[in-house]
Amino acid sequence: MKKLFLYWFLFFLFSNGYAQTTRSLEQRADSILRLMTLDEKIGQLNMETGNWDATGPILKSGDKIIAIKNGEIGSMLNVKGAKNTRYIQSLAMQSRLKIPLLFGLDVIHGYKTVFPIPLAQAASFDTATIRKVAEVAAKEALASGIHWIFSPMLDVAHDPRWGRVMEGPGEDPFLACAIAKSMVEGYQKPQHGLHLMACAKHFAAYSAAIGGRDYNTVDISEQTLQNLYLPPFKAAVKAGISSFMCSFNEINGVPSSANRKLYDILYNDWHFKGIVVSDWGSIGEMVTHGYSKDRQQAAQQALSAGVDIDMESYCYTDFLKKLIQNKSIDESLIDHSVKKILMQKLALGLFDDPYRYCNEKREKEDILSPENKAVALNMARKSIVLLKNTNNLLPLKTVRHIAIIGPLGNSSRDMDGNWVVLSNQPIAVTLLEAVKKRFPDATVDYVKGCEIQGSDRSNFEAAISAAKKADVVLLALGESWDMSGEAKSRGKLTLPGLQEELATEIYKVNPHTITLLMGGRPMIFNKIAKQAPAILYCWWLGTEAGNAMTDVIWGNYDPSARLPMTFPKEMGQIPVFYNHKNSGRPPVDVKGNYSGRYIDIDYKPRYVFGYGLSYTAFRYDNIKVSHDKDSITVTMELTNTGNYDGTELVQIYLHKKWGEITSPVKELKGFQQIFLKKETSRLITLKVALSDLSYYGVNSWRSASGDYTLFIGKNSDDTIYQTDLQL
Ligand code: GLC
Repeated sequence: MKKLFLYWFLFFLFSNGYAQTTRSLEQRADSILRLMTLDEKIGQLNMETGNWDATGPILKSGDKIIAIKNGEIGSMLNVKGAKNTRYIQSLAMQSRLKIPLLFGLDVIHGYKTVFPIPLAQAASFDTATIRKVAEVAAKEALASGIHWIFSPMLDVAHDPRWGRVMEGPGEDPFLACAIAKSMVEGYQKPQHGLHLMACAKHFAAYSAAIGGRDYNTVDISEQTLQNLYLPPFKAAVKAGISSFMCSFNEINGVPSSANRKLYDILYNDWHFKGIVVSDWGSIGEMVTHGYSKDRQQAAQQALSAGVDIDMESYCYTDFLKKLIQNKSIDESLIDHSVKKILMQKLALGLFDDPYRYCNEKREKEDILSPENKAVALNMARKSIVLLKNTNNLLPLKTVRHIAIIGPLGNSSRDMDGNWVVLSNQPIAVTLLEAVKKRFPDATVDYVKGCEIQGSDRSNFEAAISAAKKADVVLLALGESWDMSGEAKSRGKLTLPGLQEELATEIYKVNPHTITLLMGGRPMIFNKIAKQAPAILYCWWLGTEAGNAMTDVIWGNYDPSARLPMTFPKEMGQIPVFYNHKNSGRPPVDVKGNYSGRYIDIDYKPRYVFGYGLSYTAFRYDNIKVSHDKDSITVTMELTNTGNYDGTELVQIYLHKKWGEITSPVKELKGFQQIFLKKETSRLITLKVALSDLSYYGVNSWRSASGDYTLFIGKNSDDTIYQTDLQL
């Protein structure tokens, strides 16, 4: 009897269930495609926003319910929550072929648990923790019916006037590649048998906008495109990312929404098999760019170049059918994109169970859990950069009377920063809340002193008075949450309003003042930099902001973050970045000579890439460098010589002395965060793959060869060891 059952089971396995699931996604997609009408195919190429939220200008209100039931929409964005996505998906299940919707959302630094902004995460140089953060963000999104997140944003940026630096990986492509890999792996890691589609954006060179003005023209060399802006996108493909989003900008006259050169690199050089979605309305904006004659031509150009889905421009729904009818495009072009989309939906399991992501039970268990908040606290502590610590004022000992002063001392919403999914429910722990919780018996005064913006100094006196009476002052200053982000370019990077004046008054009356600067980008604060006894750069740290700040202030965590972007001293220096070329007459401090100095301002930035201090100190001994045909090996003995357990970011830079094109004076090619207990040592080995030294020359890729200098630095300027290499 048993044998009979076994034979029956094997027969079933291979004839139905097993065979069904192993039938390639492609075959299943083909069988669905054959059933579809042209209208249904075009519907799959159309993404619209839910009425609940818009992250761009709404072009068409229309009745989305009917459109979904008619199969005129293939994916939606900004629909949040298991209940909402379940309801909207149920509408799609009423369409003729019941093709399930994709739900996309801008989970940029967390869903409900808000993590530090990506630029702050980049400051951690801790790719393992960045991966963990991405996993938790994905877990919360998956619990809310979301299966497509528009992250990671991989725009390497050299211009802090551009508000979107907050969402990105900073100014260095090597760090950006490491972050790309970690975030893609974290986001797309299967959880509860489900997985997400991540989305590399904005493809490409969006951050190179002239003047740092968002959406502005990009005019760069092929070498800059290939060597600075494209590497993290290639790293995302290598990590297996499911989708890309094109950028709003043009590159050298051709908008990214139809830039065949870009998609030739993506599809043919990098062999990307996933889908490309436009940015919000970017296809239609090609008419505004002056590239497309009209929206019909824009539709033809975008689809022909390789953009599969039209987000919120309606060019595809309005014109693709007409383009087919007048034979301007072949239906096979539409089939190609539709098939890729169907394969993604099949791979997500949405055809087997369209509601498998809408799980109200998991939504309650997986969101804002203590474990998730612990990950947020860990990331936040690792993102805080210690810029100054005169006379080791920090870490503080226990104090009895604390004054918290400044407009960011007790603002939960501002701690989350921009691009927050559930921004109307701020729960971030403020500095004031964290201090009161930590020292329930101490006297804790809070005086705003001034607003973030504006010229009202009526609260100055109260702030000065509070500072005089306190043992220590925590001065919380910076940008409001909406002063960095999309369409938030700034022409002045100084602290807004009267904040720096307030700081000067506070320093006069209390030398035990810790200045905490918060914001979404590098800012200019020359007075504070000179006068403040101690400065912590805290970005926007998210849900656990206050707890992370107090952990660092009182020494539960020795600050380990380093700057992922150069901080200018003056606006006139911008763009200023570490991985610059040498030129024939580099700036030097010798007056009266013909060099690349300014005659009226200093050419040196305030803080360089990779800069940051710790409470403890480290010594590097016995450094040895060797190489073979594949890699460079660096070994050293690292000792924590200070009084605190701490973490050192070992940084390896290389410079190619001469070659087919000039190379930056330094390029980060290796880094590792090393934790050491105080007064302990460890033998450290770092490897630099020679493949990471390849570069795009005059008109082709070149491998590493020739004369190099290798630097080991505490940052991109402070070199503690260098040696020449012949590769
Ligand atoms: C926005 C942003 C993009 C975002 C998209 C959807 O305009 O440029 O980053 O993913 O629209 O919200």
